[in-house]
Amino acid sequence: MTKAFYITTAIDYANGTPHLGHAYEKVLTDVLARYHRLKGERVQFLTGLDEHGQKVQQSARARGIEPIDLCDEAAGLFQGLCAKLLISNDDFIRTTEERHKSVVRRLLQDLHDRGLIYQAEYKGFYSTRAEQFLQEKDKVDGEWPEIYGEVVEITEANYFFRLAQFQDWLVEHIQTHEDFIFPRFRARQVLEFLKEPINDLCISRPKERLSWGIPLPFDDAYVTYVWFDALVNYISAVGQGTPEFEAYWPADYHVIGKDILVPPHAVYWPIMLHACGIPLPKTILAHGWWLKSGRKVSKSTGVTIDPLELIDRFGPDPFRYFVTREMNVGQDSEFSVELFLSRYGSDLANDLGNLINRLLNMAGRYRDATVPSSGEPGEEESTLRSLWEETRPSVLGLYDEFLFHTALEKTFEFIRATNRYTERRAPWKLAKNTDPAAAGQLDTTLATMAEAIRLALSLLGPVMPETREKGFQLLGSGPADTWENELAWGDSLAGSRLAAPTILFPRPGPDLAPVDQPG
Ligand code: ME8
Ligand code: MG
Repeated sequence: MTKAFYITTAIDYANGTPHLGHAYEKVLTDVLARYHRLKGERVQFLTGLDEHGQKVQQSARARGIEPIDLCDEAAGLFQGLCAKLLISNDDFIRTTEERHKSVVRRLLQDLHDRGLIYQAEYKGFYSTRAEQFLQEKDKVDGEWPEIYGEVVEITEANYFFRLAQFQDWLVEHIQTHEDFIFPRFRARQVLEFLKEPINDLCISRPKERLSWGIPLPFDDAYVTYVWFDALVNYISAVGQGTPEFEAYWPADYHVIGKDILVPPHAVYWPIMLHACGIPLPKTILAHGWWLKSGRKVSKSTGVTIDPLELIDRFGPDPFRYFVTREMNVGQDSEFSVELFLSRYGSDLANDLGNLINRLLNMAGRYRDATVPSSGEPGEEESTLRSLWEETRPSVLGLYDEFLFHTALEKTFEFIRATNRYTERRAPWKLAKNTDPAAAGQLDTTLATMAEAIRLALSLLGPVMPETREKGFQLLGSGPADTWENELAWGDSLAGSRLAAPTILFPRPGPDLAPVDQPG
């Protein structure tokens, strides 16, 4: 079997509820997955849930339920989000699944057997109330803040993974693999971090403090530190240790947010893999944050915007369009409902929705709802077509460079040019003109509009899959055998039966205001 194009998202913490950041990451990854599928590649797209650790145990305890029940509930919420957003993931991994736990245990045992995991004393201040180790810097005016309750100095035996001895190798790998971290400026940040010596990684937690985790295979008085557990999902989900693994690994992209690049994805993960003799992923794609008033939109800052609310009101595609159009991958972006509404109104309702509706209206009125055959193209048609011939390769190139916001901008420039073309040809005037040449010009105009719309819908496919499908149905058309053929200007629509005029993107009423939560 040819190797799949393998793409993953971060696996979300089970103790939180889905928010805009999660939704964005899934959309971004889905756009890439769909883009590669449309190009004819075999794609494996993984997402999932990070279910172990202190926070899950605490949240479950606070609610008086079992951790696994809390995880089941979260899995339902996150899978529900994926479905609503038309995320085309092929798999959804949960770190409490046996297929995952067995791989984590096997790798730990292997590293232990080879002396890469050792036991040592760990000495430090510990807060039982917060259940965490504290450092001098956590003190305020020389005192431990009230929130930590009683703080004691403890000495605890723990297991450590020999991270430090791989530091030079990692620096060399990052320096010699330009594509390992995208964007490049983030690779420079990682190298900056690696200028200081790194410590070995504590990979265990004593069971009396934390029981909700994977027991160490060589000492069941301990469970595995949650990051060592979670990162392994990327290989456990595709059968590491079985012959199938080769059909997926190495991953083409790990899509993650910038907050979990250093150290987990850019330091722990490559070293874990290298120490186990497993090849490294090709690229880690670190996106920026959605912010509101300059703050991160998330559970911990208390600023949350329920993405499901916008999706419920507008459908998946407007949300997918908005986040992809606004975010320059790698940078941060400000979220506001006002901006969403303005993009929705101008780009989707006006430029795209109106254009389609106009075609359906006029072809319905003048040509019995059938796409006519085009006559000889005139200057206006040739100009629009040459714009298409420039737009297509340029948009595909932008997709390849993760410049999705610019790809959409260019696609909509073509859509707006089609609107201007329609204005200039004025089919409503041609229809009233009794000159016999006018009838042929009307045919050509309607055929050209229909073809331009079909092509734009096709190019929007990775970002707006539902719109492509619905739009094709309205045009009485379907997908072509290959995307490449689908993106070629032609006359496949001649003779197609068009649907009745439809508003694809209805304008929102004033009741939208409450979507914007105070933040
Ligand atoms: O970090 N904007 O889970 P998580 C954009 N379980 N992205 C955001 C964001 C925001 N405001 N807030 C969060 C974890 N994210 C771990 C991952 S992977 C082996 C384990 C992104 O639920 C964040 O950067 O806190 C991360 O990529 C993803 O959402 C899950 O975050
Ligand atoms: Mg987080």
